[in-house]
Amino acid sequence: MLNGEKILFSAMQSTGKLTLGNYVGALKNWGKLTEEYRCFYSVADLHSITVRQDPAALRKNARDVLMTYIASGLDPKKNCIYYQSHVSAHAELAWMLDCFTYMGELNRMTQFKDKSAKHADNINAGLFTYPVLMAADILLYQADVVPVGNDQLQHLELARDIALRFNHVYGDVFTVPEPYLGKHGARIKSLQDPTQKMSKSDENPNGCIYILDDHDTIMRKCKRAITDSGSEVLYSDDKPGIKNLIDIYTSMTGKTPEEVEKEFEGKGYGEFKTAVGEAVCSELDPVRQEYERLSKDKAYVDALIKENAETARYYAEKTLRKVRKKIGFPEIVR
Ligand code: TYM
Repeated sequence: MLNGEKILFSAMQSTGKLTLGNYVGALKNWGKLTEEYRCFYSVADLHSITVRQDPAALRKNARDVLMTYIASGLDPKKNCIYYQSHVSAHAELAWMLDCFTYMGELNRMTQFKDKSAKHADNINAGLFTYPVLMAADILLYQADVVPVGNDQLQHLELARDIALRFNHVYGDVFTVPEPYLGKHGARIKSLQDPTQKMSKSDENPNGCIYILDDHDTIMRKCKRAITDSGSEVLYSDDKPGIKNLIDIYTSMTGKTPEEVEKEFEGKGYGEFKTAVGEAVCSELDPVRQEYERLSKDKAYVDALIKENAETARYYAEKTLRKVRKKIGFPEIVR
């Protein structure tokens, strides 16, 4: 709680271009929650370096993520939008929480297993302790809720366990966070392989719609989406391609899968895919336009970055002071 308001924290990695999965699973929900909570939205650039990054690309991606947050409608005057690397308390708390996390817990994380299989030549310690940094992100701001897609639920569960364990030893230090899952599209799949999640690291660019893709590219990717045998638009596990497109369409339009089935009864896949493309464009075109406007206003964005980092540091330090004292580190004399 902050001045009677509940606190929300969430973040995205800046490893590449944000996808429609990020938009539906996270950003779109974030926008709906800003009135209800005091919100902290971080660009998780510290998290990004578990995989080698080109410095210039990392810097650009991080700025693009930050501007996309704002372009999607998050007001940077009301929400604290900042780079994780600008607040050193994240890394500091992560170390302390490392000492309250068991190897066995981290070994069970499915994302660690997946990523270490994918990057077998670089299974670094950061990849392993990644979920602890994530717990530090959340607990630093005493978050009550954390909106995420399905794939992050296991990490969130761990953050809760760490908070409870720490509180058990030292008393009530951390708020124990709750996940917040949106109604639709908690897991958007690749357009080319609907058994896989739509991901920034997808090797097939047609599988993935990027938030900043232009209108024609989005339409083309939707039209080329893999569909299933048959021709009926049905929401069924036997039709993973169409089911995924229905998930996308429902999350764009607010319609239910049953309404979508009815709307496209007797119509073919082609017509449906065009409608999906148009629905995605009508949502993402304004985001891209606003992003382009912001890209040209460097001074405005720089000022926001500075101001919001100060706010984030203020609240993060407050928690960190409490944690340091509880653990028993000597007080810093200023
Ligand atoms: P990241 O960067 O992979 O994804 C950011 C958010 O987007 C959601 N998401 C999806 N939702 C639906 N369908 C998809 N295909 C899809 N792909 C991504 C994710 O669930 C997430 O909500 N470790 C986190 C970033 C992070 C974080 C945090 C999140 C760092 N610290 C603290 C919450 C709280 C990550 O890699 O998300």
